[in-house]
Amino acid sequence: MPLERDVNLKPYNSFGLPAMAERLVRIREEADVRRVVDHPELGRAPKFVLGGGSNLVLTRDVQAVVLKMEIPGIRLLEERADAWIIEAGAGVAWHELVAWTIEQGYPGLENLALIPGTVGAAPVQNIGAYGIELKDRFESLDAVDLVTGRSAFLPAAVCRFGYRDSVFKQEGFGGLAGKSVITRVRLRLPRPWVPALDYLDLQRRMAETGIAAPDARQIFDWVCEIRRAKLPDPAKIGNAGSFFKNPVVSEEQCRDIIGRDPGIVHYPMPDGTIKLAAGWLIDACGWKGKSVGGAAVYERQALVLVNRGEARGAEVVTLARAIQESVYGRFGIRLEPEPILL
Ligand code: EPU
Repeated sequence: MPLERDVNLKPYNSFGLPAMAERLVRIREEADVRRVVDHPELGRAPKFVLGGGSNLVLTRDVQAVVLKMEIPGIRLLEERADAWIIEAGAGVAWHELVAWTIEQGYPGLENLALIPGTVGAAPVQNIGAYGIELKDRFESLDAVDLVTGRSAFLPAAVCRFGYRDSVFKQEGFGGLAGKSVITRVRLRLPRPWVPALDYLDLQRRMAETGIAAPDARQIFDWVCEIRRAKLPDPAKIGNAGSFFKNPVVSEEQCRDIIGRDPGIVHYPMPDGTIKLAAGWLIDACGWKGKSVGGAAVYERQALVLVNRGEARGAEVVTLARAIQESVYGRFGIRLEPEPILL
């Protein structure tokens, strides 16, 4: 378990922001976490868990010990009458796992194609896209306590999944933010497979192509195409996906806003609340293409902030705050950032 010092984190965050890690350890197996916990120098130091770095805004150097998750491996754990159970190491790239399941003939993750980041990070913010969230396909995970080094098996109920939220993001009572690290994740892909085609972008593809009953591979290809058209490829333009969560408001609040702005894109939720499209709110305030230093609002999707070149974390944060203020000023809605600001 070699300890690396003064590591440049620029290649390890999808925004491409500059920051140094004082100390970094690559975690290649679960036992490496225990080695860190038992280590005379590292054991007591604060830790920061780094997955694919695709949901992260680095505004300064990192003093905490960085645990870079690189646990490999994908396998079919169990073939049940009602589901396939797939297990993957925390360090596997999420999209690699999705592509593997499609290749092997285990459908169910196709709507989640091309989401950046690692398998271990997926439960942290309950990743979701095109009508499916991780929690809809989640079986259980293994995590290691960063203080005691003890391993734990966590079923779905303990993970407290919500919209872009889980126990791993929550601080305070019962929250596990900064307290444990996910090492392995198990997914449950239900049989028989039922495609999720409600999302408007997918309905449009079905109408355009005349394919009324697409298979999982077809949906996978469509989702990849839709994402490529709307979202910048982090390998070319630094970004962290959606920068803000879509705000959820009461029906009354929504009626009020619609009264003033009839065009607002909104989705009624099963519990009676209404989710507003943050991208629309930001777009309506005229932010597309605007910039602060090297940080800018993506021209094709106002919900995504990008690195136009040598952006610094502080510039991204300044831009984000200005957007929050302007959306609050016009709509009275507070946008909440989706990535972790460090
Ligand atoms: N819109 C605008 N202007 C914009 C951007 C969006 O008017 O600049 C409108 C669109 O026309 C559309 C609506 O807002 O009617 C929603 O946009 P879109 O379908 O692109 O989805 P989103 O709400 O922006 C969410 C997730 C994405 C996920 C897509 C597809 C969040 C915060 N974002 O985006 O997740 O891929 O739905 O399911 O929930 C991510 O979390 O990083 C992410 C990319």
